[in-house]
Amino acid sequence: MHTCLGGNVLALAPGEVVEDVHLVAARDECIDDMRADEARASSDDRPHAPYRTAAVFVTFEGLDGSGKTTQAELLAEALRAEGRDVVSTREPGGTPLGEEVRRLLLEGVEMSPWAEAALFTAARAELAATVIAPALAAGRDVVCDRYLDSSLAYQGLARGLGVERVLMLNLNATEGLLPDLTFVVLIDPEVAARRSTGSDRIEREGLELQRKVDAAYRELASMFPNRITTVDGNRPPEVIAEEIRERLRELS
Ligand code: TYD
Repeated sequence: MHTCLGGNVLALAPGEVVEDVHLVAARDECIDDMRADEARASSDDRPHAPYRTAAVFVTFEGLDGSGKTTQAELLAEALRAEGRDVVSTREPGGTPLGEEVRRLLLEGVEMSPWAEAALFTAARAELAATVIAPALAAGRDVVCDRYLDSSLAYQGLARGLGVERVLMLNLNATEGLLPDLTFVVLIDPEVAARRSTGSDRIEREGLELQRKVDAAYRELASMFPNRITTVDGNRPPEVIAEEIRERLRELS
């Protein structure tokens, strides 16, 4: 199971929000404890398995132009080369509904911050329910280019909606489906802007927003140190990819 709903999140009284980041961090620790239990359980069940058999859910985050998509592809390839069954997907999108929502979000009309957060979350709910959760349940690994940390960074912190509020929305929408590991590819926002090829509605807002998102990812990494690993994106892709594979091996 890759879920951590209940406990701190749903035990809150209506209208009450998690004010203390340590509570959120504590919830993250609880998730990591669950991971350790799962890994043990799976190897107890299958003592002769040649490699870690429990499916892993890995997400990639970063600014547009950070190189996160390349890293997601390289990791999926590396896992497949080990004989693992991997589902690669992306956000926003990854499902018929998600692709329609993506068009609204990135090519559509202007929208208010909560409408934006709700639409990203709607696309994610569909992806979690119809692609990610079934794949993990079938024992397949999932590598996702962006997931809920994008909403925490862009909508929660950069747009100022609040990490806790956006996290609660997302935990409800995904039924608590959290990644085992998240890699944030860090790169200077000006370098990222030069490298970035696309220009969607959010990127067109310019460098100031990208700087806030960069700061947001760094803050998230310190809030969730066991799940989120930052990697220096200023190096050759293969070097970064090797560091990521090494970190993943540590999970075994
Ligand atoms: P992006 O990764 O750029 O898609 P692609 O590389 O395929 O064009 O994502 C599109 C934009 O949406 C990007 O600027 C980040 C933003 N975004 C959010 O603001 N919140 C979210 O929850 C997600 C998933 C993306």
